Amino acid sequence: MTDKTRLYSGMQPSAESLQLGNYIGALLNWKKLQEANDAFFSIVDLHAITVAQDPALLRSNTRRTAAQYIAAGIDPSASTLYVQSHVPAHAELAWLLNTITGFGEASRMTQFKDKSLRHGSDSVTVGLFAYPVLMAADILLYDAKIVPVGEDQRQHVELTRDLAARFNSRFGETFVIPEADIVKETAKIYDLQNPTSKMSKSAESHAGVIWVLDEPSVTAKKIMRAVTDADGGVVFDRENKPGVANLLTIYSVMANRSISSLEDEYAGRGYGDLKKGLAEVVTGTFGPIRERVLELLADPAELDRLLAQNADRAAEVANVTLAKAYDRVGLLPRPRR
Ligand code: AMP
Ligand code: TRP
Repeated sequence: MTDKTRLYSGMQPSAESLQLGNYIGALLNWKKLQEANDAFFSIVDLHAITVAQDPALLRSNTRRTAAQYIAAGIDPSASTLYVQSHVPAHAELAWLLNTITGFGEASRMTQFKDKSLRHGSDSVTVGLFAYPVLMAADILLYDAKIVPVGEDQRQHVELTRDLAARFNSRFGETFVIPEADIVKETAKIYDLQNPTSKMSKSAESHAGVIWVLDEPSVTAKKIMRAVTDADGGVVFDRENKPGVANLLTIYSVMANRSISSLEDEYAGRGYGDLKKGLAEVVTGTFGPIRERVLELLADPAELDRLLAQNADRAAEVANVTLAKAYDRVGLLPRPRR
């Protein structure tokens, strides 16, 4: 046991590469938080199958996502980095929580509504509907206090809090009530071609999506083509200049510099220079990450061994919480033989 604060987060292995929004909104933040906290980071493959998937691709993307966590600086000996489906307790607790989740409550989840619209009602499944309940199980199994996520996940963490409080009041103190940790400035990175919508792995066009694993030349080209405005001034103004504001945000986070120092440096120099500078910073960061990922993927047995070890560590914690929850709701314990 440590006296560090328990922290939990996860990402879906839903693409071959993570995108810049995942890197800034999640990984960078996780990396900063892992030292001071007892951190659990999962690759949520059970969440990824709530929309149609290709089995071979899912398997490969799960390894690739793990490799990207590690290459970006998540240390699998300091943090517990594992694959969600390797710990059966997630699905088991999710079932319990399903039984205390209101149908109307789940129907109000905006991400469910968005995804249902996007995928068409014929392919919307009960699994997709219950997605946030599984996420609640992820968090509650580990008694996590802090959940670092992007703005889009705030509502799911709120639901998690509601479910934990409801379970506790109905069955007795069982779960820790978690809190979302959302870094305001970087909570939302926007699509470079469409700077009022979120950069996303599932965007219709990939022209405005920067992939962590893209060739540096491709990344640089996408940044040079980013949508800006006709005004020409390098000024941070989210309302009127969303494209430039997004570029400045990305630059500031990745170079670890203040927005105002960037405004000063690029004042009167135009967008071309700003983009060139940004492209250097982004490819300078992602280039080495990409190389490390390729190295890790070249030895899948070692990667799998690491994941198995971490899953054992996760299961130890999760199984204790699950047993407690089973007992609280009145499930008959299976006698030891
Ligand atoms: P997902 O790709 O939806 O599994 O998201 C994984 C994590 O990345 C979550 O914490 C999201 O909130 C975060 N994230 C995804 N896209 C962005 C974005 N465009 N800006 C900031 N954070 C993001
Ligand atoms: N739903 C999250 C997303 O799409 C991923 C996720 C699953 C998660 N379980 C979690 C995030 C638990 C934080 C904690 O980004």
